[in-house]
Amino acid sequence: MSNSPSDQVRSADSQLKVARELSPRRSTSQAADIAGLVAEQLAHFSIDSSSEMGRTLGRLTEHIYRANVELHHLWELTVRELPRLDRRDRIAYFNAKKFLCFQLAKLLDTLQNPFRHTYQSLVESQSTRLAKGPYPIFDNVTAIFSATPVIARTATYLYACTEWIDDAFQGREMLLEVYSRLLNPTSVSLANHIVDLECGPLAHEYMAWNFNSGMAAIDATLSHLVGYGDIILSSRNIYGGAFQLLHDWFQKPSNLDIAVHFFDGYTLEAFRAAFDEVRASHCDRLEAGRQIYVYVESPCNPHGYVLDVPAICQAAHDEGLTVILDSTVATPFLSQPLRREKPAERPDFLIHSYTKDITGSGSTTAGVVIARNERMFIPKKESVTTTDLSGRSVTYRWDETLFWNVFYVKGAFLDADKAFEVINGSRTLDLRMLRKAISTTVLAKFLASHPHIRVKSCALDENENAAIRRRVLRLGLAPPLFTIDFEGAALDRTTFTRFFDCLEPAFGHQVSLGQCNTVVLCPALTSHSEMGPDELRAAGIAPTTIRIALGDEDPRHLIAHFLRTSELVIDPARPGFSGSFMEAAALDELYRRTYLDVHTSWLEAQPSTKELLR
Ligand SMILES: Cc1ncc(COP(=O)(O)O)c(C=O)c1O
Repeated sequence: MSNSPSDQVRSADSQLKVARELSPRRSTSQAADIAGLVAEQLAHFSIDSSSEMGRTLGRLTEHIYRANVELHHLWELTVRELPRLDRRDRIAYFNAKKFLCFQLAKLLDTLQNPFRHTYQSLVESQSTRLAKGPYPIFDNVTAIFSATPVIARTATYLYACTEWIDDAFQGREMLLEVYSRLLNPTSVSLANHIVDLECGPLAHEYMAWNFNSGMAAIDATLSHLVGYGDIILSSRNIYGGAFQLLHDWFQKPSNLDIAVHFFDGYTLEAFRAAFDEVRASHCDRLEAGRQIYVYVESPCNPHGYVLDVPAICQAAHDEGLTVILDSTVATPFLSQPLRREKPAERPDFLIHSYTKDITGSGSTTAGVVIARNERMFIPKKESVTTTDLSGRSVTYRWDETLFWNVFYVKGAFLDADKAFEVINGSRTLDLRMLRKAISTTVLAKFLASHPHIRVKSCALDENENAAIRRRVLRLGLAPPLFTIDFEGAALDRTTFTRFFDCLEPAFGHQVSLGQCNTVVLCPALTSHSEMGPDELRAAGIAPTTIRIALGDEDPRHLIAHFLRTSELVIDPARPGFSGSFMEAAALDELYRRTYLDVHTSWLEAQPSTKELLR
């Protein structure tokens, strides 16, 4: 059988280059071939190459250098051939490679015996043993086969040698994670996972950095991008903490003196009009070279309304602007904005607060930023020329990436325990979000059946935002967040607060959203209390607005409690109030129909068995 050119071994030069990567003298080696690398390595560690031990180590080292050459070849072949391979062949190659991992680990495991024995011969004192603890490499090899990501609870890592750690500091050696404020295996595992979830087939173009809260992720992205005197054009209904960050920190003249503008509405037209206004009112800043950045949250706080993100991104990119999207409420289940076919329709930076539905349990705070590789990380002193989302050719320098510009220097990294918590929680995301879409629709429709309760939810077919929800969110499913208010019922403040205070235990009196349990708050008093009366009005938030963030419960249990509380507290002040909701039998029918409709549309969107077997 004749070899194709691709099967032929690399040239001696390129073999040496690849093999050298494993040398403790990778930056200073003078070796002309692999044998030379082996000799240098033995000399580096003062090994007598003529001794039996030296010869054995030398042979082993040579095999390892050659294995590295083959592994690089395998990577190139995989990139080239995988797209052409039939699914059956992919299964075969996956399993062959998985088995190789076990074989390599077995080698490492077998190495532990001579290695541990030598260590034991050197560390004899009991107090030294205690101070050092178990030597890290010995019993950690098997940890890579843990069925869930290992929680690497450490501040530091062993490093291989001077030249390798030097490369690690330049961002050229990712095996050495250096320090857990920068990199940590559990956190990296989550970062790679969220990229897979968000980007699917485009995952190789994207990268994520985790932060210890959603706010830290938002702050990092904005700090990374905006400079003194720049302009931020933001959608109106954003999370109160993000509003506070823009308003209280970025806008402050003694900080970055950013001009912050909010646009109402959810459409392309609303964005365009606001953009024209901002451009006209800030000619001075723009003439001085200042930039406009677009910040949007969708679905947005507190009403869960959906912005026409693809159209807004396209329009912003037509103007050469950068778009930052907080996609927390959507999660990668309800929308995947980075998978849009047209790059111009994708945001440049996508943010999640993992604290919410992605983790789902409300047991941790964490956040993430996802963006194209060249905006996230480039090794030190290097640059990348590429086409940006506006279609322009741009060159990004290493120090213009989010990693070096903010992440590396600011220290808001997500630790291993929290990263594990997020990974674990995310495993049931699909199930929870599907259930929540049903519950949201049922609860919103039930509450809207009352003539004096105003429901702001795009789950309602007649809602002003329903058309965008249907077009932009996956299967048009409802985001699990909406508001109601009692302004039409003219409740006095005492009755309203007594009613609200009795919503426990069915509704959790908790801030936050995206938990297993349904939680309620009054935005004017909590999540959006940073806003003044005018800003609240502009955001559609009334004094009696209640934000409902759905959990996994049966919505009828929530409704039963809501009705009993209404009878208890509101009826004495407004006789007959509780009798104006839809009838119990109609509610059962609404629940049944919604349950079946959502599951039917879900089922119909799944590939058929025939497609799966293709
Ligand atoms: C949409 C949205 N983005 C960001 C955040 C901030 O996330 P974290 O609480 O993890 O800092 C929140 C918090 O409620 C939010 O609702």
